[in-house]
Formats: sequence, structure tokens, C-alpha cells
Amino acid sequence: MTLPARVEAALKAAIDRADTPSAPPGLIKALRYAVFPGGARVRPMLCLAVARACGDDRPEISDATAAAVELLHCASLVHDDLPCFDNAGFRRGKVSVHAAHGEPLALLAGDALIVMAFERLAVVGAAEPGRIAPLIEAIARGVGAPAGITAGQAWESESVAPLEIYHQAKTGALFVAATTSGAIAAGSDGTPWRFLGETLGAAYQVADDLMDAVQSGLCDKPVGQDALLQRPNVVAERGVQGALAKLDDLVEQAVASVPDCEGAQEMRDLVRMTAMRLAPKQLSRSAA
Ligand code: IPE
Ligand code: IPE
Ligand code: MG
Ligand code: MG
Repeated sequence: MTLPARVEAALKAAIDRADTPSAPPGLIKALRYAVFPGGARVRPMLCLAVARACGDDRPEISDATAAAVELLHCASLVHDDLPCFDNAGFRRGKVSVHAAHGEPLALLAGDALIVMAFERLAVVGAAEPGRIAPLIEAIARGVGAPAGITAGQAWESESVAPLEIYHQAKTGALFVAATTSGAIAAGSDGTPWRFLGETLGAAYQVADDLMDAVQSGLCDKPVGQDALLQRPNVVAERGVQGALAKLDDLVEQAVASVPDCEGAQEMRDLVRMTAMRLAPKQLSRSAA
């Protein structure tokens, strides 16, 4: 099976498990709406690519890990769009979860996705119990306090937010979780893969800030939000050209950080391919 097919199948398996006759139908609909169809699925692909580079000796655990990472990402988007955060009515080319299903079910769907992510690891990881604890730890770090998504979102409630720390928490931490958990799922050490997650996550958020600042009309989510909501962002700090230069620099660092391993070249190609899709389409890199 291709990596994208594995990601979709693993996500379907996770959601199907919740879809029983005794479940509240509205919640199940909101869960499916939040997860399908997906966006770029960058994080679970990265997770599986690292697992493969590390041998992928238990594909079912790699798949559950990749699904856990993406379920957490989807939960973060559902919560991020709520009126109490970014109040965004549009996501992945359709109305956001709270606009389609109401605020209570959006809040609960986000909660259920977070719990489901860890449940998947417990259920599927039982075949290799020694991997479950480090997997849970690596993934939890990416989403909780003090430095995961929760912390990243919480920086928006502070009067001053240091940009790199804010970006690392709200986006970088889950990329680090994706790379390190991919290695752990395959029975390897996650540490050598941390820097790849950090740099690619940082690049990804720089690209997201650029897109938010310069994109018009071509986007699958609202643009101009950072300025509107007065969020710290790299374009405000460095300007468009400065942000593009930072993006290039981070991508080069990410490519260079891929540890020597059997699938290293394939991995570097994947990082470059992901990076090429990052910069907003109308900004030619040569103009940078
Ligand atoms: C959006 O992430 C939020 C950020 C951290 C930049 P993605 O751009 O990966 O969103 P989807 O999953 O493709 O919709
Ligand atoms: C992205 O925050 C990080 C999350 C935790 C969702 P943003 O608010 O910058 O992401 P988008 O631009 O809405 O996808
Ligand atoms: Mg936000
Ligand atoms: Mg947002």
C-alpha cells in the first residue's frame, strides 16, 4: 500500500471504532467531518516516512502512530477555528466544524479526537508493549503543556509572545512528535529525528504565515487572519522577502538533518518535495 493509502486506512479504522449504534450520531458525523477529506496529511506522511527509514518492522503500529498524529492535528484545527480562538468559518475548502455542526459538537469532537489518538496507540501498540510508553510520551509532548500545541495556543492569551517559541509550540512540536514517534513506532530511538521535525515544523509555520499574509482567493482557509487577530507572525517581523529567506534556510537545514540510514535519500527527497509545496504559489522563489 502507498503511504497516503496507509494514512487514510488508519484514520478510517480509528473513526470506525467509535462509530457504533450506541454512539450519538451527531458526534460521529462531526468526527468524520473533521477528519475527512483531509488536508495535506503532511504530519502522518512524515511519521510513516521516518518509520520506513527505520525499518518499519511493525507496520500496524506505525500506521496507528501516524493516525494518532493526524487525529491530534485535526483536533487542533477544530479547536483553533472556534469563535473563542480564531473564529474561522472556513477550513479545508468547506465550512469549519463548528459552523457545520455547532459549537458544542465541535468542542466535543476535538476532545474525542484527542482521546482517540491515544486510544489507538494503546489498542494497536499492545502487540509491542515496550513501545507504548515512549510513543505516548513523544506524542503527548507535541500537544500538551509546557511546549506543545496547547502551550502554543495559550501564548495567544499572553500580552507578549516570543515568535520562535510560539511557532515551535503551536506547529513545530507536533512535527517533532511526528518524526520521533515514527522512529519509536519502528523500534528505534527518536532523538536523531528531532531536529528534522523542529526545522520542518518551523518552515511549515513560516510558510503558513506567508500564505496568510500574501495569498488571495486561492486558499482552502481564510487568509489575512494574523494581521486581523494581531498574532505574532514572521511576515510582520521580517517582511515577505525576509520570511522567504528564512523558509529556504529552514528547508536546507531540514534536508541536511536527515540522519544516515537506509532510506535517507528518499527521506531527503520527501522533505524537498514537501518544501516545494510550501511557499505561496504566486511568490516565485527566484524573486526572493
Ligand atoms: C495548518 O496545518 C495549521 C498549521 C499549523 C500551519 P496544515 O496546513 O497542515 O493543514 P491541513 O491538514 O493541510 O488542512
Ligand atoms: C495553527 O495555528 C496551529 C494550530 C494549533 C491549529 P493557525 O491559526 O496559524 O493555523 P491556521 O492558519 O488557522 O491553519
Ligand atoms: Mg490560530
Ligand atoms: Mg487559525
